[in-house]
Amino acid sequence: MEKLYEEARKAFMNSYSPYSKFKVGAAIELKNGEIISGTNVENSSYGLSICAERSALFTAYSLGYRKNDIKKMLVIGDTIKPISPCGACRQVMSELLELDTEVILTNLNNERLIYKVNELLPYHFNEGDLNG
Ligand code: THU
Repeated sequence: MEKLYEEARKAFMNSYSPYSKFKVGAAIELKNGEIISGTNVENSSYGLSICAERSALFTAYSLGYRKNDIKKMLVIGDTIKPISPCGACRQVMSELLELDTEVILTNLNNERLIYKVNELLPYHFNEGDLNG
């Protein structure tokens, strides 16, 4: 299995999800070959929980990387079909990834769907909309 999948799977295993018991892992491959991962981290105040996708993306940005440094992203869940990212994460992806960056959606059986960011959230809200 490729490294991106393995790293996302490791993050999946690190999921802190005592409330939903639903583990998710995400991994970002940078153009320099480095991989940055993230998992979902929940809280007893449920709304404060963060998804794996945003966890990975915010880590990459915290380390100083930007969308043009990112080659692709992979998301894994223990789902029958490849996992479907939530709407909030699609919105964040649409700002923090290039619109033509590939997002690989998968599951523990390595079944895959591959979409470009723009396909996951067409007509997304963006900074241009803030100016009316
Ligand atoms: N979750 C993710 O981390 N990513 C997704 O794509 C779907 C949902 C998390 C949020 C919460 O911790 C748990 O999965 C159940 O919704």
